[in-house]
Amino acid sequence: MNVISVASEKGGVGKSTSAVTLAAHFAGRGRTLLVDADERLRSAWNWTTKKEDYAGWGFDVLLYSDFVAQAEPGQGYEFVVLDTKGGEGASELVALARNSSLLIIPTKPDGVSADGLVATLQPLLEQNVTNYRVLLTDVPPAPNSDGLDMRLELDTAGIPLFGHSIRHAVAVSKAAREGICVRDVKADRYAKLVWMDYELISREVLNYVK
Ligand SMILES: Nc1ncnc2c1ncn2[C@@H]1O[C@H](COP(=O)(O)OP(=O)(O)O)[C@@H](O)[C@H]1O
Ligand SMILES: [Mg+2]
Repeated sequence: MNVISVASEKGGVGKSTSAVTLAAHFAGRGRTLLVDADERLRSAWNWTTKKEDYAGWGFDVLLYSDFVAQAEPGQGYEFVVLDTKGGEGASELVALARNSSLLIIPTKPDGVSADGLVATLQPLLEQNVTNYRVLLTDVPPAPNSDGLDMRLELDTAGIPLFGHSIRHAVAVSKAAREGICVRDVKADRYAKLVWMDYELISREVLNYVK
């Protein structure tokens, strides 16, 4: 069983979007369970249970309290994707990484967050936690260079990053509103492109955990 957790010290950085969309990718490769540990907002749960007649997910979904109440949580699944609430500090991230195959830390390249992120993640480097990767999400298109600037800054600070980034695409929020996978958002070519971005990330995750 591969436990892939998605967490961050900030909210609104693309955790739930990444957890839901990556779970849809993993579901094409093996039995997958999405666990929503942000029980106040329930973004992942609400998104994936909204449209009752939709058969496009391919994975099971549980709230965290129901997940841990099971006799053997995650038993029988090849992939367990854990979406968490924002605000995790360094010690929580360390603990989460130690209980995961890989910890994904999404961030948006909004210019000011790089310093804060480096400060938060420095303890992970110091404690020799290596099974995490930062994922740049919601990256604006060229000629805007925020994504590249942030990548350079984090890379220079020694923070491990996914090789690919997730582009900005309104199809993502449309998918959440409609209760479908971004792959199935109609009449928006960026929907397919952002789905492909997550495909590349899912391959990087598989290379890491296998
Ligand atoms: N690639 C993207 N393109 C456009 N909007 C995005 C993208 N990723 C996330 N968002 C938007 O950013 C907001 C926060 O995303 P969400 O996944 O809920 O973050 P978190 O779980 O970290 O709070 C949502 O409105 C979501 O639709
Ligand atoms: Mg969320």
